[in-house]
Amino acid sequence: MQDFTVTPWEVSGAIDYDKLVRQFGTARIEAALRNRMENKCGELHQMLRREFVFSHRDLNLILDDYDKGRGFFLYTGRGPSRGMHIGHLVPLIFTKWLQERFKANLYIEITDDEKFLYRREYSWTDVQKNAQDNILDIAAVGFDPDRTFIFRDSEYVKNVYPLLLRTARKITGSTVKAVFGFDDSTNVGLSFYPAYQVIPSFFEKKRCLIPCAIDQDPYWRVQRDVAEGLGFHKTAAIHTKFLPPLQGVSGKMSSSAGGETAILLTDDEKTVKNKVNRYAFSGGQATVEEHRKLGGNPEVDVSYQWLSILFEPDDARLKQVYDDYRSGKLLTGELKGILIERLNAFLKEHREKRKKAEKEVRRFMYDGKLAKEMWARTYE
Ligand code: TYM
Repeated sequence: MQDFTVTPWEVSGAIDYDKLVRQFGTARIEAALRNRMENKCGELHQMLRREFVFSHRDLNLILDDYDKGRGFFLYTGRGPSRGMHIGHLVPLIFTKWLQERFKANLYIEITDDEKFLYRREYSWTDVQKNAQDNILDIAAVGFDPDRTFIFRDSEYVKNVYPLLLRTARKITGSTVKAVFGFDDSTNVGLSFYPAYQVIPSFFEKKRCLIPCAIDQDPYWRVQRDVAEGLGFHKTAAIHTKFLPPLQGVSGKMSSSAGGETAILLTDDEKTVKNKVNRYAFSGGQATVEEHRKLGGNPEVDVSYQWLSILFEPDDARLKQVYDDYRSGKLLTGELKGILIERLNAFLKEHREKRKKAEKEVRRFMYDGKLAKEMWARTYE
């Protein structure tokens, strides 16, 4: 028995990322590949530098294509739900960085169909409301409006239906059972859905690179089984680890696990402060005296981990926090204070960008250069 689980539907336990790489058949991003990225990009995003972006499929082929002038395109997505949390922004923030560095087109799939099929408590109206709301948060990340197309599955389906059927015809029931753990009680909509999550990787004849957390990788295994038979490239992927929940460094931040484990994008300053102070798992000692004497453990401290993943881009400053916490100079309350300040500054900025996105969102969905091209295009 394994003590952790990672599937597109469930992430729990203390994740052994090396084991996961072996199980999923992906590859670790080794130093040589990181250096290659650095040479091309001028610098590395902190998530790559600190190995939070840790695994890939065929990233080397993407860079080869880029070098040869063939280029590549990016694809990522979101299953809309009530309220996004900062974990959901992690792959999007990294995707934005990739788009800026490589000037690549980006497709963002909003899987209203998937959510409707999976979450029985949602009505269709709920799902559409959530999708609209989530799209604003996604647009607020700041992608290039002429190189980005955000679409809802239910709306774009008319442009892709023949290709979707051609893809579905290649995927058997036994494949989705084996890959996703579906059984005879799974509704047939969900058995069909994986075909749609594959489709955006066929939007261009170039090679596709998918940034996501590693829970989505089973879809790319299916994609890679069928792509060449349909006349497309096997997709490449670049995987992040999971932003941990407040309660401790195992599992992933998830909104369905209850509001206390996650910082939602709508949380106000007071809520953030209370959640972090109350719930953020600490690597500190029981008393101040002991902490001063023995020091804390940043490896298990959620506040430190979040700073490292997202909120402290400066390596020297991060190291200072690490050293001070280890030595006992920095107390748990002080470390939490740093995180609270960063989180609230981040969320304040996000709220402002979201407000602006209300005006810009049509460009991503309908009026921008890429969006217009996509609405004029059909796929067989
Ligand atoms: P969804 O909505 O569950 O998640 C959206 C993206 O966020 C990632 N993610 C996290 N990343 C870091 N830390 C976390 N705690 C965390 N929780 C979620 C997910 O890996 C994902 O990248 N079926 C998909 C929607 C989808 C998609 C895609 C995702 C369609 N096409 C292509 C990625 C790439 C879903 O429900 O994602």
